[in-house]
Amino acid sequence: MRYHGTVIRPPSEADSLILQVTYGCSHGACDFCGTYLDKPFRARPFAQIVEDVTGLPAHAKAAVNRVFLADGDAVILPQRRLLEILELLYRELPHVERVSAYATAQALLRKEVGQLAALRDQGLSLLYLGLESGDDGTLAAYNKGVTGSQQIEACDRAHAAGLALSLTTILGMAGERRSLEHARATGAALSRIDPAFIGVLSLMVVDGTPLAHRVRQGVFAVPGPWVMLRELRELIATIEVSGALFRSNHASNYLPVGGRLPEDKGRMLAALDGALKTPQMVSLRPESWRAL
Ligand SMILES: C[S@@+](CC[C@H](N)C(=O)[O-])C[C@H]1O[C@@H](n2cnc3c(N)ncnc32)[C@H](O)[C@@H]1O
Ligand code: SF4
Repeated sequence: MRYHGTVIRPPSEADSLILQVTYGCSHGACDFCGTYLDKPFRARPFAQIVEDVTGLPAHAKAAVNRVFLADGDAVILPQRRLLEILELLYRELPHVERVSAYATAQALLRKEVGQLAALRDQGLSLLYLGLESGDDGTLAAYNKGVTGSQQIEACDRAHAAGLALSLTTILGMAGERRSLEHARATGAALSRIDPAFIGVLSLMVVDGTPLAHRVRQGVFAVPGPWVMLRELRELIATIEVSGALFRSNHASNYLPVGGRLPEDKGRMLAALDGALKTPQMVSLRPESWRAL
């Protein structure tokens, strides 16, 4: 497998074969995101993808159960190319059970439900999408390029096509003053979408991003850990879903909290209330250990 530039994948794809089908992200303009600053967006030549997959030794092919399509929003590729890639994977890898990818709402909105369903039928099963916030002001402030209702529409299309969704949101994005509004709007959007997986990250300032510039200029201040934990509490309190795995154990977070929603909501809220009441008893992840 050949890789170009920084390649990332969700933590739950640690054991997957990572196959780069695009370089970078077609939106590439979220003010907090430094992930693909090293490479402009382009589709990877299909011949190279074929070479990498067909060139795997037989024992490596047999060992692959899951594939993650990188980089930032593989679903943006034309429909025919995506179908060719899925067909290649299921032909060459005898034990593959799941193919997943990052997707932007913009990429999903460019496809009809029928096209997404065709991808599902060809073996695409799970999409990771950065909701970040349900609050339009916050989304616009970071140039996410979509509104909350467009994100909901995109997720509805994926669900109608039978695709599972894993959504990420970011604590701290709205600053201290609008922290709880961001939490409530995000909880409301998640409730409306009803995804199978919810992952919560905490805002990190990445060098070279417009966010880093704003922080340096003193225009924006990243809220401290206790504001973020109060925000997390409000987010969990707001979420009403039919059944989701909720995780805030990402390395960017100060305190890991997780469980199934709705079953573990009371336990998670009690843990956060306890921490917020007696902060001196809580050991937070040290600032220097936080990472993306
Ligand atoms: C590399 S993006 C790919 C997802 C997809 N492109 C999208 O935006 O829907 C993965 C996720 O990492 C998170 N992320 C990226 N930069 C971050 C930062 N500086 N602080 C916190 N989370 C960040 C966001 O939730 C983002 O959606
Ligand atoms: S968060 Fe996603 S959409 Fe935004 S620039 Fe990063 S990879 Fe692209």
